[in-house]
Amino acid sequence: MQKMLAVEARALSFRYQGQHTLVLDKVNFNLEQGKIAAITGLSGCGKSTLGYCLSGVIPRLIKGDFSGEVNLQGRVGIVFQDPDTQIFLPTVEDELAFGPENLCLAREEIREIISCNLELIGLKELRTENPATLSGGQKQLVALSGVLTLSPDILVLDEPLSQLDNSAKDRVKSILLGLKEEGKTLIIMEHDKKNLLLADQIWCLERGRLFQLPASGEVNQGE
Ligand SMILES: Nc1ncnc2c1ncn2[C@@H]1O[C@H](COP(=O)(O)OP(=O)(O)OP(=O)(O)O)[C@@H](O)[C@H]1O
Ligand SMILES: [Mg+2]
Repeated sequence: MQKMLAVEARALSFRYQGQHTLVLDKVNFNLEQGKIAAITGLSGCGKSTLGYCLSGVIPRLIKGDFSGEVNLQGRVGIVFQDPDTQIFLPTVEDELAFGPENLCLAREEIREIISCNLELIGLKELRTENPATLSGGQKQLVALSGVLTLSPDILVLDEPLSQLDNSAKDRVKSILLGLKEEGKTLIIMEHDKKNLLLADQIWCLERGRLFQLPASGEVNQGE
């Protein structure tokens, strides 16, 4: 029996304002709840743009010609490719408190969420640091933990390992697999083949079209 689809996108098309070419051209995408999909493709093929569409950033925040439909079962969170676009508060702790505070959670609960996430991601020592002074990899970890404080059911992660050293990469991979075990649904934009092993499905974006690849990594079909 097929499990519930957590993400269903039909005929997604998008062109940035003032541009001629469609970045996404009638893209279809489905993902069952509790699965991990990787989206691959050459630089500039539109992986981030697809992530924006799946998470609602397009059309809510980024303007252009958008058409198609996205249905999500549950709350979605996105970790942007560039952590600097996500991080803006003076300490790591403030950054992690921001989401839960906006949900108006009790002070004690917020403290608990922050400390669990700092522990999980391995950022305890950086609690009072200014994120602006951290390395790219550390910023990536802060951006990820900030989104995790909101416990999204569906997580879009745009190249989440790109700036991490090997030990942080391993830690984040095991966190992502742990999220999957909890039943979360993950969409990971990723260009490094080594990291695709995490995924239950691999999709490739090329000239606006999205193809699902078989496990062998070869192109399967042209729709
Ligand atoms: N705000 C924007 N306005 C106009 N064009 C844009 C904008 N953002 C991205 N693009 C263009 O849209 C196309 C897809 O970009 P996108 O960032 O989604 O690709 P990507 O696959 O994520 O690239 P990368 O692998 O480098 O992260 C590129 O040609 C890019 O130049
Ligand atoms: Mg990108």
